[in-house]
Amino acid sequence: MPLIETDRPSGTVLLHAGPTAYALRVDTGAGTVRTLHWGGPLTLADAVAAFEPDAEGNSFHSPLDGTEELAVDGQVRFAPPALDVRYADGTGSVEPVVDGYAVQEDAEGAELTVSLRDTGRPLGWRLHYRVHRDRAVIERWTELRHTGGHGEQPLTLVRHAAAQWNLPVLPEYRAGSVHGRWISEFQLRRTPLSVGETTWSSRRGHTGHQGNPWVTLDGGGATEESGEVWTVALATSGSWRTTVVRSAEGRCSVLTGSGHEGVELALAPGETWTTPVSAGQYGAGGFGGASRGWHAYTRATVLPAADELRPVLYNSWEATAFGVTFDNQRDLADLAAGIGAELFVVDDGWFGARDSDRAGLGDWTARPGVFPDGLRPLADHVHGLGMRFGLWVEPEMVNPDSELFRARPEWVLHLPDRTAHTLRNQLVLDFSRPEVAEWALEWLVRTVDAFDVDFLKWDFNRSFTEAGSTGGLTDARRVFVEHALGTQRVLDRLRAARPALRIEACSGGGGRVDLASLARTDQAWVSDNTDAVDRLAIQHGFSQVYPAQVMGAWVTDSPNPFTRRSVPLGFRFHSAMAGVLGVGGDLTRWSADELDEAAAFVARYKAVRETVQHGDQYRLGSPGDVSHAVQYVARDGAESVVLQWRVGPTGGVPVPRLRLRGLDPGAVYHVDDDSGTLPAGVVRTGAALAAHGLAAELPAGEYASRMLTVRREV
Ligand code: DGJ
Repeated sequence: MPLIETDRPSGTVLLHAGPTAYALRVDTGAGTVRTLHWGGPLTLADAVAAFEPDAEGNSFHSPLDGTEELAVDGQVRFAPPALDVRYADGTGSVEPVVDGYAVQEDAEGAELTVSLRDTGRPLGWRLHYRVHRDRAVIERWTELRHTGGHGEQPLTLVRHAAAQWNLPVLPEYRAGSVHGRWISEFQLRRTPLSVGETTWSSRRGHTGHQGNPWVTLDGGGATEESGEVWTVALATSGSWRTTVVRSAEGRCSVLTGSGHEGVELALAPGETWTTPVSAGQYGAGGFGGASRGWHAYTRATVLPAADELRPVLYNSWEATAFGVTFDNQRDLADLAAGIGAELFVVDDGWFGARDSDRAGLGDWTARPGVFPDGLRPLADHVHGLGMRFGLWVEPEMVNPDSELFRARPEWVLHLPDRTAHTLRNQLVLDFSRPEVAEWALEWLVRTVDAFDVDFLKWDFNRSFTEAGSTGGLTDARRVFVEHALGTQRVLDRLRAARPALRIEACSGGGGRVDLASLARTDQAWVSDNTDAVDRLAIQHGFSQVYPAQVMGAWVTDSPNPFTRRSVPLGFRFHSAMAGVLGVGGDLTRWSADELDEAAAFVARYKAVRETVQHGDQYRLGSPGDVSHAVQYVARDGAESVVLQWRVGPTGGVPVPRLRLRGLDPGAVYHVDDDSGTLPAGVVRTGAALAAHGLAAELPAGEYASRMLTVRREV
């Protein structure tokens, strides 16, 4: 069966997205493209027959509102538009004409393009849809074109959403999203949706810690493993805006695109603007099912090297901060190799005059005096220990106290007559300028080559202020979008130039985690908060859309340097083993026993990481519960791993049993508990593990945790 079916006489187009369906109707006579269905499977005959009578008309209402694939501002429409244009004469009313649609199918999927234009003004736009074989996620984006010839006035895109997603009418709606701040990212919140417009946005020029560009919607009754859930995620790393409109009449639409409120784009004659991809997914398997769909999609179509196992890394930041020397890095590298780390990352402090955050950004040569022979001796030492060598970089930033700024002060984002405020003593380089991007690419490739760098941690430590483009963009605020696109081009070219290089996305922790960033990196640093307990909530929110194989997590010192909380080493490991395990503590202060224990945990992680990183993930409860767990099931079903935590003492409250998911009911499984709480030799059927589960009591006391390994009998 084709992935996209059409019925020309009725203008019906049906997209089969995995087990779900999306249908729309293209009405050339009326000049409209309207949503028919986004939900469970349909046949083309069902879609052709589908129609929704417009509500009885009156002079205060538009039947189009909340039903169009990309509503414009113009004609009889009152809902917030997805596309709002100002022509040179100051008017903005768009009158769409549908020119037609085309479908193309290839080996991986199929694409639909619907072409529209304004009746009389020089504006054309195309709605793009892509479905991938066996994936419920549908990708959508829009191309907008100034169709006028030379000499015509530019037009302004006031709103330029990538897509409008219309849900079926439900009696109630609930919206789910994550919010947070530095050191407290990805806090999950689900709240009833009020009538009106609810907007999540970043006005910072990067994805941000305060929110993340995805939203889930359900009818209020979905649970972790049941119920219908619609999710929309935007693939952008610059400013963004997602608005959910719940109309007074009861309809619900999601409008999402790059640029925050007021970031308008000027389009010159002949120019085309392509929005980022907005990906949408419907599923009937609750929030857990939705997450597994996003994880599978990210693995199959977003990540550049999805099949690789991520190495266990050691990072020096919390151990040495800016005080990096050859000796202290060598000592840490020796200890890291001893516990089984596979990648050693020298964090901030190795370059320029970087002895604090006040100087050096922009001067990407090894610190004179500290590394008189450059980084080569350290890189060789790390490689000699059998580890890969990684370096921290922050290419988009400059300290005013740097050679680069003294030579190129005009390269920073600024407004000529305004104070350029520094944050963390740094300014942002304008990556929308080709010469800035060329400069960055040149030194990045040179550095990677000079020291055989295997891995870069690419950081970004401040939000934009006084942002105007310095590179001649006519609409200076466009830099809130264009800077991130410039950065993406550098990342793409860097990867193409050095295909073996692996990259970690970081922005003061999790300030730049999104599908656009993950398309050109291998993992993400999720938070500067490395407290193993705080991390559980952060990781719970992160996992809603992003998979464990990109979720970097370190075991650090106790008490934690940020929170001062003391947590046992085992708990710290179990918390970090839920993603891509790393170690970030000052190993020179760990006792011989602690190092031995760490080595044992690293070995245990390596034995199960294929299942953690590439398996299907099931959340068993949430961090607010007395105890909760995350379960991973290997893709071949042979192994399942459960990581379970309890923060406080139970005080005698019974703990709900761990009922496992995703196992073969008829198979027999052997359960191993690394805390020794379950007796040795527990054997159960998959059916019993799902129906009755396992006793969930953990060792007594606070901060109890364990890993269960569940292996199918052969
Ligand atoms: C912020 C990152 O999130 C930290 O891990 C560390 O790399 C510092 N920047 C270094 O300045």
